[in-house]
Amino acid sequence: MYDPQPPDVQNDQTVACADARATVVEMADIWKAFDDFQALSGASLELQAGEIHALLGENGAGKTTLSNVLTGIYRPDVGTIRLDGEQRRFHSPAQAIAAGLGMVHQHFRLVEPLTVAENIHLGRPELPRRLSRRRLISETAQAMEQYGLTVNPTARIWQLSIGEQQRVEILRVLLRGARVLILDEPTAVLTPSEATELFAVLRRLAASGRTIVFISHKLHEVLAVSDRVTILRRGMNVATRPAAKMTPEKLAKLMTGTERVMEAPRPSKGRGKPVLELRNVSARGDRGLVSVREASCTVHEGEIVGVAGVSGNGQRELTEIATGLRHPFEGTVAIDGQDLTARLPGDFVSAGVGHVPEDRIGSAIVPSATVVDNAVLRAFRTGELSRAGVMRRGAVRVFTDRLVTAADVQLPDIDVPIANLSGGNQQRFVARREAWAADRLLVAAHPTRGLDVRAADQVREVVLDRRDAGCAVLLVSDDLDELLAVSDRIVVMYEGRIKGDFTAAKARRKEIGYLMGGGDLVGGAGAEAPS
Ligand SMILES: Nc1ncnc2c1ncn2[C@@H]1O[C@H](COP(=O)(O)OP(=O)(O)OP(=O)(O)O)[C@@H](O)[C@H]1O
Ligand SMILES: [Mg+2]
Repeated sequence: MYDPQPPDVQNDQTVACADARATVVEMADIWKAFDDFQALSGASLELQAGEIHALLGENGAGKTTLSNVLTGIYRPDVGTIRLDGEQRRFHSPAQAIAAGLGMVHQHFRLVEPLTVAENIHLGRPELPRRLSRRRLISETAQAMEQYGLTVNPTARIWQLSIGEQQRVEILRVLLRGARVLILDEPTAVLTPSEATELFAVLRRLAASGRTIVFISHKLHEVLAVSDRVTILRRGMNVATRPAAKMTPEKLAKLMTGTERVMEAPRPSKGRGKPVLELRNVSARGDRGLVSVREASCTVHEGEIVGVAGVSGNGQRELTEIATGLRHPFEGTVAIDGQDLTARLPGDFVSAGVGHVPEDRIGSAIVPSATVVDNAVLRAFRTGELSRAGVMRRGAVRVFTDRLVTAADVQLPDIDVPIANLSGGNQQRFVARREAWAADRLLVAAHPTRGLDVRAADQVREVVLDRRDAGCAVLLVSDDLDELLAVSDRIVVMYEGRIKGDFTAAKARRKEIGYLMGGGDLVGGAGAEAPS
């Protein structure tokens, strides 16, 4: 399925230059290899003042690498970077930011125990060594006002929502004088309403003459927010086009070489016995507030139950309860009739539970460990991989190769730290590993987040295959189209409660949306009594 031919390299930058904005950045013929792996093969990027420029491409296409080259994190093997027409070389991120090139990374780099104000001003060379707390806060508040990005300046980072942390990151970069701001998949972690707010901020920044580079896999939002789009495939440019002339189908075709439509629903062959049974569970979230309230839900063999809802309504905590990572203070959790309330995550693993968590970097992989070690995190105790407590090295490598091939992970070799893989490749890896571990129940939170269209289809296929093999699946997603395409039943979470229970065939987008926004259905059509 993977097209081995290199893509046609066309340079259509002239198409978009009709409005003749000033060119700020010109990256030309950029090559970058990691050991034997060629991540960029002559990529280019031209950025204009006052534009929002989307950078698109499948997982591993080189988007992050190209951004890292521009912001001085990597030095290109070959290639030139011009800033305002002048050739520049950056030997460090500090040099790039001093020249006005700033980046907000996929994973934030804030200091958790410090306050918002302290984080924003950390390492700003022009500030006096000692600054009164009062002045720090007033400077912060002023900057927030100026850019329309408000967060409580005295709050500590760990207390903030992801959306707020992102605002702090953006402010930090802006206050260092960024004229070109690169955001690497900024909306992957945001709720839809946070994303809308972010877009308003980006438009204001562009209107003030700054240049925004926006990396995303969500084609609809790319078209809604950007002026131009550059598409990369395997480290090379495919095209640069005005967004107004594009459609999601055309973009998908340029990225992958094939047009794609979300597959038609594939109904279950029929459900079996209950596997996961949650009875009236209530639990607190990380900040001590009750985040799951008297939730009841049953997932049967051969059935996918989709959990819809705006992120932050208790879905994450629910998935943690179903995998033993969080203990409810009331109610019971059972797998195959065995009461596992208050048992350890390891007991859930032994019961055949696989988990694709929302925060895969934080909890599903050990970034500094190799791909091999990460592959066997789940399965190392099985007879296949160890004997009398000793790992069988050969078997472990075979297992890893099989996993990497099945998950279609692109990597130089299996002994590199998994942190070297692109975000999407890590995600595919985790999804496949956990699907393999899930004999009885797969709990998946946003398993296709951050994946390109083709990889997202593959992961949905894995989830459907598990179901067809008789596994129970609890699937959390904020993409309603995805839930409607794969679920057999859909429930909605709102403020920690589980509401509604729709059979997929009867589910109506309007009713689900209504519940997601806090509405109540009184015996509404499509709803059935919770089982
Ligand atoms: N430090 C590194 N060492 C080795 N290989 C790397 C390193 N960084 C990136 N790569 C490889 O280079 C390729 C391009 O990676 P990059 O992170 O730029 O992709 P991307 O387009 O951002 O993908 P995604 O959408 O998944 O984030 C990938 O195959 C990745 O595994
Ligand atoms: Mg990336």
